[in-house]
Amino acid sequence: MPNTITFNNDYPDITESLRIYNEATGLIPNYTQTLAKGPGQHVFGVAPIYLKSGKGSHVIDVDGNEFIDYTMGVGPLSLGYCYPRIDEAIKRQLEDGITFSLMHPLEVKLAQLIREVVPNAESVRYAKSGNEATTAAVRLARAFTGKNTILCCGYHGSQDWYICVTDWDKGIPEITKEYTYTFNYNDLDSVLNSIDDDTAAIILEPVVFEEPQNDFLQQLRVLCTERNIVLIFDEMWTGFRMALGGAQEYFGIKADLAVFSKAVANGMPISIVTGRNDIMKLVEKEVFFYNTFGGEALSLAAAYETIQEMKEREVPKYLNEIGYKLKKGINDILAFNNIDYVSVAGYNFRTMLSFNVSGGNPLEMKSFVQQELLKRGILWGGYHNMSYSHSQDDISYTLQAYNEVLTALDEAVQNNAVSEMLKGEVLKAVFRKVTNFNTKPKNN
Ligand SMILES: Cc1ncc(COP(=O)(O)O)c(C=O)c1O
Repeated sequence: MPNTITFNNDYPDITESLRIYNEATGLIPNYTQTLAKGPGQHVFGVAPIYLKSGKGSHVIDVDGNEFIDYTMGVGPLSLGYCYPRIDEAIKRQLEDGITFSLMHPLEVKLAQLIREVVPNAESVRYAKSGNEATTAAVRLARAFTGKNTILCCGYHGSQDWYICVTDWDKGIPEITKEYTYTFNYNDLDSVLNSIDDDTAAIILEPVVFEEPQNDFLQQLRVLCTERNIVLIFDEMWTGFRMALGGAQEYFGIKADLAVFSKAVANGMPISIVTGRNDIMKLVEKEVFFYNTFGGEALSLAAAYETIQEMKEREVPKYLNEIGYKLKKGINDILAFNNIDYVSVAGYNFRTMLSFNVSGGNPLEMKSFVQQELLKRGILWGGYHNMSYSHSQDDISYTLQAYNEVLTALDEAVQNNAVSEMLKGEVLKAVFRKVTNFNTKPKNN
């Protein structure tokens, strides 16, 4: 019998997952198209490897085991799996066609809605993935300012201009690295040290897990205006979640350009570049930002209905409330049990559990927590990506499970026995590095 969302006696049976995985061996290098979904982020030997279906906040793997999902497609499932309003919109559009030979009216209808809800969205354009959107924004910034260097903070996708500054930099000309540097969040000096006359853009996720301190975002805004630098907000996570209009609305700050994807179409592939018309209009001649699928109508229909649903139901407010309940519940469990080497960080719509070395090996502790949550019917990769489908019951059950799992972790930590209690392979470190790498030497 497959496991359900309950206090199961055994870890899930993953026979079919392993069979498919073996078929992929030697066929799909590194198995996964998205690192966060791959085996390195899920305890190999215990965790399911392939999912088959989802409904609301629950998913079923290929062996029939059911889980509450806290990864939610690594972001896109903002409303939930098979959300009726969105699926109906996709089906309706499917009757009429997917991709056409001329433009589709939905391109305009959706842009009008985005302009209404996203501050500063004077102009709107579409692509398919987050990396296309950040790349278009960077190219626009370079063209607009006539400068080259990009300062960034956070993760911005797989494209050359960004990924060249990480460890996965092969296949990219060395020269590319001379035009991208990183700065540290909440560290204005690290920005000031790196700015020079060639700085075209500052691009950052307005928040990741840390809150801005000392008006950090406002200070960046002022700096960019003074130095003729384009300020780009990468709102892949914050957009349509933190507030309907994303971080620009939440913090009351206007970036010059803001880019979105993930949450906006409840799982359909679309990304959006918005911002100042005088910058965006460069695509009319100088800046080439065109692609075959930008006007693909199923995603446009899904995005339109997703934003409408979020607006009508005040989804960001719900994500905040439900996420708060979970975060507070976990904090209460940690405090009650005096567990000081685990913490939960982030804004309520997206929180993360962190493990401090004072409790032992962080990756082993995380692996243990994941393995034990899986046994209790919870799919978790370290984050709680809240969706509109996560119910009060989901949260209450999850907190009961956390109570058991965190107290079991503490016992294992006290006995120095975490590693021997692992039933599978230890997780790998997450790829994202957000601080202290490829910073620019201070300008003289
Ligand atoms: C903040 C941010 N920017 C950009 C991207 C790149 O998006 P994509 O994977 O769709 O290219 C991601 C993806 O995780 C992201 O989280």
